[in-house]
Amino acid sequence: MNNYTNNSKFALTTPLYYVNDVPHIGSAYTTMVADVLARFQRLQGKSVLLITGTDEHGQKIERTARELGLEPQVHCDHIVASFESLWSKLDIQYDRFSRTTAEPHKAIVNEFFQRVWDKGDIYLDRQQGWYCVSCEEFKEKRELLEDGCCPIHTNKPAEWRDEENYFFRLSKYQQYLEKLYQTRPDFIQPLSRRNEVLNFVEQGLKDFSISRLNVDWGFPLPVDPKHTFYVWFDALLGYVTALLEPGQEPTLDNALAQWWPINLHLIGKDILRFHAVYWPAMLASAGLPITAKVFGHGFLTKDGLKMGKSLGNTIDPFDLVERYGSDAVRYYFLKEIELGKDGDFNETRFINVLNADLANDLGNLLNRNLGMLTKYCQGNAPQLTSTDFAADHPLKKIGVGLGDRVTKAYEALQFSKACEEIFTLVRASNKYIDESAPWSLFKQQKQAEVEQILAAVLESIRLSAYLLSPIIPQISTNIYQQLGFSLDFNRQTESVLAADIFQTHSQWGKLPPNQNLGKASPVFAKLELPSDN
Ligand code: MSP
Repeated sequence: MNNYTNNSKFALTTPLYYVNDVPHIGSAYTTMVADVLARFQRLQGKSVLLITGTDEHGQKIERTARELGLEPQVHCDHIVASFESLWSKLDIQYDRFSRTTAEPHKAIVNEFFQRVWDKGDIYLDRQQGWYCVSCEEFKEKRELLEDGCCPIHTNKPAEWRDEENYFFRLSKYQQYLEKLYQTRPDFIQPLSRRNEVLNFVEQGLKDFSISRLNVDWGFPLPVDPKHTFYVWFDALLGYVTALLEPGQEPTLDNALAQWWPINLHLIGKDILRFHAVYWPAMLASAGLPITAKVFGHGFLTKDGLKMGKSLGNTIDPFDLVERYGSDAVRYYFLKEIELGKDGDFNETRFINVLNADLANDLGNLLNRNLGMLTKYCQGNAPQLTSTDFAADHPLKKIGVGLGDRVTKAYEALQFSKACEEIFTLVRASNKYIDESAPWSLFKQQKQAEVEQILAAVLESIRLSAYLLSPIIPQISTNIYQQLGFSLDFNRQTESVLAADIFQTHSQWGKLPPNQNLGKASPVFAKLELPSDN
């Protein structure tokens, strides 16, 4: 069992996003994934804390604000509002929104710094090297392209820096980290990312600078206020500040009391080094336990090409959710992209997948089945329970054990596998109706057989909707209501989130017999391809 699933509490984070611009699809992707996992954990009755937020200090943000003629804080507030708005449109149920410019964060950064300082792990030295402001990271010459840009920001050349900075003694933690990776082999996931980190660490760790002399937009170092904190030192601690209860005195003890260590940092592969190397070393220096797990997902491309402003092929998440709705966007990214691998967005594929899975396979199945139940069974669920179906019944065979298989997939962050498992039952249900033709059995007055078929399909739809609810909460709620339940998967009430409810609803054969069914209506309207495709 994963070490983050065997207790009743689960804290997870998205990265704290830079506010140089409104959210892009990459930030939306990580946040949707985190939300789906958080929802699944809550559904099982666990206490969950989903942390997201924004990383607001540093040179990149300072420059962007100046270019726009704004005070940095005004600019940050403006962009933060757009993040909050997108999360609401995408039905993201976050518990904390951590902003690194928030006042309590300063106290946490200072206290943490003091611990590391007292440990003797910080010293003043000269920093020389190439700096990519967009990455907010020093780069080795060999990491840069011929024109001096880094491979991620190909239109912004790295800049030469030569200044006094305070350094953190990362090199002192070389052995500590090697042992950490050995003793906790699942600390970094997936395996390919773990190997990347092992290779990097094997080459020998260098100390890194944690202060800047010429950047005003940051908290000053308590020991030398001419310097401000390097944005990453400040940002990683945003995860800790987020753990404070609203209004609580901002001390490390308070922040760490309830939820530490965090169970999972969900991030993109480009920021793996900070989370899997720098962060555990910083925590070790401050004498704190290390977070349980870091998962580095892949990058999204558009039509097979790297997305970027220079190519003009970015995907606007606001536009996508506006045109297709939140469930559609969530489903595509969770189902189509194996978490950990790079994934592509292609609008034709997007529409085809949604039409095939949500409109046809699931939506039509519900509609057909409810239609027949109205016609042949007066709109009630037949008077049948699980034991009325033979063990080798084609749907029962798939349905029994599905909840367990899907739970395993969700817990291993294999969301596309979870969808595939569920849709095996949905597709088998469609095939089963076609092959058993209840309409002709009805004509032959074989009422008991008709009821057997419709009840088995009804139950399979219910189970599928329940297990899909972390991914498509609106559609699942709609289906559940048509099946006569009052559960709303977008409302975190006890009637939805309790271990005993999960135990019942995640199993095949639990639809109450004779349940009064609701009115049938389409749950997902078929999408049209845009005319320019
Ligand atoms: N501020 C830092 C994180 C600090 S965490 C303490 C940061 N912010 S970011 O806004 O630049 O990136 C946020 C996330 O977006 C990263 O996880 C990054 O991997 C992800 N993505 C950026 N572009 C992406 C794609 N094209 N595809 C998928 N994710 C991508 O880094």
